[in-house]
This record gives sequence, structure tokens and C-alpha cells, in this order.
Amino acid sequence: MKRLITSFLGILLALSVRANEGMWLPFLLENNIGEMSEMGLHLTADDIYNINQQCLSSAVVGFVDLDRPYSHFCSGSVISAQGLVITNHHCGLSVVQQHSSLENDYITNGFWAMNQADELGGNDIGVCFLRRMEDVTAQVLEGVSDTMTIKRRNEVINSNISQIESRVSDSTGLKAHVDAFYCNNEYYLSVYEIFEDVRLVGTPPISVGKFGGDTDNWVWPRHTGDFTIFRIYADSLNRPAKYSAENVPYRASNYLKINAKEKHEGDFVMLMGYPGTTNEYLPSFAVAATQDVYDPIVVSARGKSIDIIKERMRADKSVMIKYTSKVASLANAWKKLDGERRGLAAKRVVEKKIERERLMRDWIVADTLRQAKYGTLLDDYAKEYAVYQKYRRLKLLIDETFYKSEMIDLCSDIRAVLQSNSTDEEKRTKIVGWLRDFYADYDLETDCAVTSMMVCEYFVNCDNPPVLFKGIKCENMKNPDSNLLRKSLLADSTKAFSVFKNYTEKSSKKIENDIVFALTAEIDDKYSNIKTPLQKSLKKIDDFQRRFMQLQRECFADARFFPDANSTFRVAYGQISGYRPTDAVSNAPFTTLGGVIEKCDLDVYDYTVPDRLKQLSAARDFGPYCNADSSLTVCFLSTCHTTGGNSGSPAFDADGNLIGLNFDRVWEGTMSDLQFDADICRNICLDVRFVLFFIDKYAGARHLIDEMEIVKD
Ligand code: ARG
Ligand code: GLU
Repeated sequence: MKRLITSFLGILLALSVRANEGMWLPFLLENNIGEMSEMGLHLTADDIYNINQQCLSSAVVGFVDLDRPYSHFCSGSVISAQGLVITNHHCGLSVVQQHSSLENDYITNGFWAMNQADELGGNDIGVCFLRRMEDVTAQVLEGVSDTMTIKRRNEVINSNISQIESRVSDSTGLKAHVDAFYCNNEYYLSVYEIFEDVRLVGTPPISVGKFGGDTDNWVWPRHTGDFTIFRIYADSLNRPAKYSAENVPYRASNYLKINAKEKHEGDFVMLMGYPGTTNEYLPSFAVAATQDVYDPIVVSARGKSIDIIKERMRADKSVMIKYTSKVASLANAWKKLDGERRGLAAKRVVEKKIERERLMRDWIVADTLRQAKYGTLLDDYAKEYAVYQKYRRLKLLIDETFYKSEMIDLCSDIRAVLQSNSTDEEKRTKIVGWLRDFYADYDLETDCAVTSMMVCEYFVNCDNPPVLFKGIKCENMKNPDSNLLRKSLLADSTKAFSVFKNYTEKSSKKIENDIVFALTAEIDDKYSNIKTPLQKSLKKIDDFQRRFMQLQRECFADARFFPDANSTFRVAYGQISGYRPTDAVSNAPFTTLGGVIEKCDLDVYDYTVPDRLKQLSAARDFGPYCNADSSLTVCFLSTCHTTGGNSGSPAFDADGNLIGLNFDRVWEGTMSDLQFDADICRNICLDVRFVLFFIDKYAGARHLIDEMEIVKD
């Protein structure tokens, strides 16, 4: 018994959140502030977030696509009174790409607006400020009972949420959004102000902004100058407004001061921003499925297509421009998930979760009320998960193979519009718009090569290769001349535009007979046959997970639980710290420009260094931004818990000054989306000193430095 209690306590301790783990809610920081102070913070919870006073969080922004304003794809911060915003290079890359052409190749050469008139607007991204956040669980759950069906429960909740959102939006003129927390057990309202005119001010060449490319992505040591500067514009009354020549720079009542001093290991770091998704509270069987089933599908399919695309990019400069951003997003998830499955295995997360579930079972059996509430939960959940896993695997396989073919993906979207109730005119407008986007960065040869590989990948992986898909066979697709895609009307942009510009109901025959549309029809059918049961099962899974989360919070009542990331505003904290990735290897927490020069000698394609940077490095011309040993820091590591969406998140020192920008995690620790491990989970930040050096010495954009407030002792 004593042994049992000791081991129970041991696990409890291991389960309770340790310093560094967690993405916390700004309005509940009182629970963390003691610990944060012990770790070195000099601020109060109100200095960080308080809707009624100047606070750091009001200088933090989320980056959004204007057509999806609640889904923050990156984070950033305001760094001048005239609305300058800093984020990562990879967050702004699509904007840089939109303004680039072979003549004005800003991707390769970088871009710096030497005055405000030259700042590049008309972009499809915006930034949002969090104006308020509050717990609305009681209102959302009004009318919900434990005896309701899942369907009815969701209906009541969704209707309550819509009412709250409209009420708040109507009364404030701001955007209100209610999100679910703790696996649908709690609901919090976020109120945002969204600025839609955000212009490109400056970006380094991609050889700096993405130095190390996919070779170094998710890897330490890292030397990437991953930053881009934007400026928010507003109307003459300083209010959000659509892009217009009349708009003026946003007058920011609050902006971050910059600490350009040298940092040291052990220094306190705090991070704010919009982490996208984590799943920290899954049961063992769901983690096992991620590690052994889902991640391997993505890793295998993407790894192969990336190789193909990169070869084409190297051979052809126009393919390089068209596919830079596409390949980055494919490669990013590919490498991350490979790190994740390895990390989960190395840290024996499934085994640890099984042990934890054993404790929960013991806890349930010890009490009749608990038995009534949770008696068969774990077994029922596991049973349903097996059903869900089967469908999710099949769906993932199609998503990662057929729908990663650009042409098939486009056909699928077009088919959906054609089948919708829209008028012919609406259909024409929508499709022609898509075609324009599609051909702007499409290369048929690349797509043919990727698609044929994907078809093979699908057939190898599906359990019973179906005798459908227009009788296509992997071998046949491999012959470039007879590749199916070449036979489609979409292979010829002129033909495609003429068909869809003149589309009427009657043209649908021509489209139906097109070989790739016909193939896509079969894929879409198969896909929707999977989607329906998957959705049904997912609803049950969500409900099991809600109750499983409840069980964990009740069973381990003394532990601190942070809610999973869900694209809402969060605060994370930790320290600057190196780590030991493997036995006998110790990684230091800072990299320097000297390391960039070392890498560039390695003759790796991703390690190209602009001559100007080499010269500045050779001359040690680092201005006031160099370290005591006259080196220049590029990146540093800290122990904050972050995930995708945290890119561009400001890293603060103990006084709330900006010291860096988060942009990545170390590969050994990407498992932190499912389980944070303090030994190996580290986030990677770009040091703000490198940013200042680059703007000042490389870009010669001194006027921007003059706009910022740099803290002197
Ligand atoms: N891994 C980082 C993130 O998830 C950086 C991605 C961009 N950089 C790159 N080399 N692909 O977004
Ligand atoms: N690069 C990621 C992003 O775009 C952040 C890194 C991470 O996933 O931690 O948000």
C-alpha cells in the first residue's frame, strides 16, 4: 500500500504542471503570477493584461486572413507609436510573394520601404487586437443537461454562442467570438478589433529570413533572421478601415519598448500570442494512433512530394518563385510530425498515459458515485476510438495523396461550386477567380510528377486497392507524356478560362467528360463516404474527450491544468536555456552570426549568405548591437511552451520589454503539442538585436529604428 501511495504521489507530482509547461489565459494570470515572480518577472498580472489600463497584451496582435478573421495564423507585436508591427518572415511570406515578380523579386532580394508612401498595401491579411476576454461558460451551458443527446446538447450550445456573439458584436461594434476550452467543458468570449489595412514595410532576403530553409527548420542550432515588418493603417479617426489611399498610419496608444542588451542563460522570458492547437489531454490510445498511424502517413507522402518539387525548383527559377511558399507549408508539417512521432516514442508517452489511466481506474473504483459517473468511460471511449481511427486514417490518406495534387484539389473545389445552388453568374465569378490564383503559381510538370507519385502512395497504403478511379494505375501515371493531368482542360489555362468564363448549365457535359474531373468525382465520392461516418464518430469522440477531461481534472484535483491551445490569446513563460538532445550532447542557448558564416561554407543550397552580410560579419560592423565578446547573437532558446500560431510572438524580458520573436521549436521537442517534456522542449526565438542590426546596418532603414523606443539603462 505504501508503495502504491508513493508511486501515486510520484505520478501526481509529475503530472502537475511544472514551471514552463502551459499556455495560460491572460485574465486568469493571478494563478501564475507568484511562480512567474519567483522565476524573475518584475511585473504584476495587471501589467500584463487589464482591459482598463495600459498593459502589454494590448500591444500584441494576431495575424489573420481577412476571409477567416478568427483563425490567427501567426502572432506579432506593435513596436512604434506609428503602428509598426513585427512578425516572422514566414508569416509575411505570402504577402511578399504577392508583390514579387521576376523583375521585382522581393523574395530573393528583400524589400525596404524608405518612406511611408512606398509601403506595400492591398494585402489580404489583417491584424487583430484582443480587447477583452471573459468566462461565459454559465451562459453557454444554459439549458444544457446531462441527459440530453449529444446532438441536442450541441444545438443548445451553438445557439447560445450565436446569441452571445451577436449581442456583444452589436453593442460594441467589435468582433466577438466564443471558443470552447478544456475539451468543451468551458467557454470564453474574446472580443477583437480587426485592422484590415496592413502594409509591408520591410523584409530581409529569403536567404536571411529563411536561412537554413527546410534543412534547419525545426532544428537547433539555428541561424534564421525570421522577421518581417508591417505597418497598420487606419482611417483619419484611427479606426479600422479597408485598404485605401486615404488611410494613415495607426496611432498606437501602446507599443513595446525594445531591450537591445545582451541576454544570458537563465534570464526570464515571457511570450504572448495565439497558439493554434494542442492536444495535451488525450488518452493513451489516441496518442498511440498519432504516433503509429496518422503521423507516418503524412511524413511518408509529403517527404516524397517535397523531394520532387525541390528538384523542379532548383532546375527552373520560375518554379522556384511559384512554389517557394507551397513547399514551405508542405515541408513544415512533414518535418514537425516526424519529430513528434519520434519524440513521443522516445519519451514513452503512450506508456506514461497508460499508467495514468490505471490510476484513474483505481480512483473510479474507490467510490460508487465516481463509478456511476465514469464507470465505463475509458472502455467505451477506447471502443469508439477504434471506429474513429479507421475512418480518420482513410480520410487522411486521401487528403495527403489525391488532394495534394493541385489540379485534383482545384477540380474538387470547382465541382462543389458547380453542384451548389449559386446562379451561373456566381459560379463563373468564383471559379474564374480561383483559376486566376491557381495559374499565377502553377507548374503543370511539377504537378504531374507529384500527382503520379501520390497515386502510387495511395495504392500502396490503402488496405484493398479499389478498382475505381477511372482505372488509373500508378505505373501509367509515371509516364510524363501520358500523365492524366495533361489530358484535362485545366492543363491549358486559355482553355480553362474560356470554358469557365462562358459557363452555363449546358457546359457541364464538357466538364463531366473531362478525365480529371471524372477522376475527381470518384475521389470526392469515396471521400464523402468516409466523411459522414467520420463526422458521426467524431461527435461521439468529442463527447468522450469532454468527459475524459472532466475525469482528469477531478481525479488529479491538486494539479494545475491549462486549457489546450485553440487560437485564443495565451501567455507562456520560462527561461533562456540550452538542452541535451541526446546522451553526451549539450546544446548552448545562443547562436551567433559567426555560425551563419560557418554554415555558408558547407555548400548546402539552404545556406546561401548575401555578400553584404558576409562583409558586415568580416568587418564586425555590428554597431551597438554586439555582445561583450564582440559577437552578434542571432537566435536563442527558451523553455516556453509554444505551438504553431505562436510564430511572431513577442518574447519579453522580466520588465516587459521586447527581446525577441518566437519562430520555432527544436525538433526533439515537437511532441509538446501532445505532451510537454521539460528536458527537451524548447522554443526558438530570433534575438531582437539581430533585427535591429539588420534594419540599421544591412537595410540602412535607420528611419525605422528612430521610430522605435530602445531601452537604455
Ligand atoms: N517551423 C516553423 C513554423 O512552424 C517555421 C516555418 C517556416 N520556416 C521554414 N523553414 N519552412 O512555422
Ligand atoms: N513556426 C511556428 C508557427 O508558424 C511556430 C513554431 C511552433 O510550432 O512552435 O507558428
